Amino acid sequence: MLDNKVIVITGGASGLGLAIAEALFKQNGQILVFDCNPEPFETLSQHFDCYEVDVTDEQQIEQAVTRVIQKYGQIDVLVNNAGIIHSQPLVNIMDPEQRRHSYQAFKKVINIDLDSVFLMTSMVAEQMIMKRTKGVIINISSISAQGKAGQTAYAAAKAGVEAMTRVWAKELAGFGIRTNAIAPGFINTPSTSDALNEQLIKDIKQMTPMKKLGEVEHIVQAAIYAIENGFVNGSVLEVDGGLVI
Ligand code: NAI
Repeated sequence: MLDNKVIVITGGASGLGLAIAEALFKQNGQILVFDCNPEPFETLSQHFDCYEVDVTDEQQIEQAVTRVIQKYGQIDVLVNNAGIIHSQPLVNIMDPEQRRHSYQAFKKVINIDLDSVFLMTSMVAEQMIMKRTKGVIINISSISAQGKAGQTAYAAAKAGVEAMTRVWAKELAGFGIRTNAIAPGFINTPSTSDALNEQLIKDIKQMTPMKKLGEVEHIVQAAIYAIENGFVNGSVLEVDGGLVI
């Protein structure tokens, strides 16, 4: 049980972030959602404290973290989940209009998937240290960090997230703060079915030793483990049915 731990989840308004929010709420966590899409907030605010924040915007994060500290006194857990998936080859010879990977798209993905994790964690970790909170940071990565073909920007961002996880595991452990990452494989979520067609999903199941997609519960279980196990630090928990081995 999480005993009213104050838990900030970025991108908690949908998908994996929402599933993690609901599960941690059931375990007695005090859930704070930071999301740039306020549409679901009316429903979500029945259980969660929702903040409209663009996690690539330093000023917006600073304001929201300040409000949270004023209201709750401290932050115990940060889940850096907000992110976007982008697939594009480095050079696409089939598309003479846009043969090279768009630099604009590259920068956007790095901004949302990597910069946001740096900005959020620097501000939350500062508060954890100042308030002497034995906190936990969880970064949501992806198996693409291993270098998935067709995902230069996304893979670079997630590999960066995993590198920062290891740096912070060393830098912050002295303050009693643990940092871990979760690298989901293909999970049965709306964003997966939006991004992949039926045949591709069939192929992925075939390639996965477990012969199926993961469910959001598998990611939720990894998040609870990362919070509760006091000796897990600097790990990347691969939850992918054995796909990357
Ligand atoms: P999703 O698209 O369902 O949810 C992402 C949430 O992040 C949305 O609520 C969106 O509004 C929010 N968001 C996006 N940009 C934001 C910003 N700048 N500021 C604040 N909020 C922002 O995505 P999904 O699938 O739940 O993915 C969540 C995380 O899990 C991402 O980091 C993704 O890379 C990772 N992941 C997902 C996998 C999957 O199978 N769904 C597999 C591997 C990794």
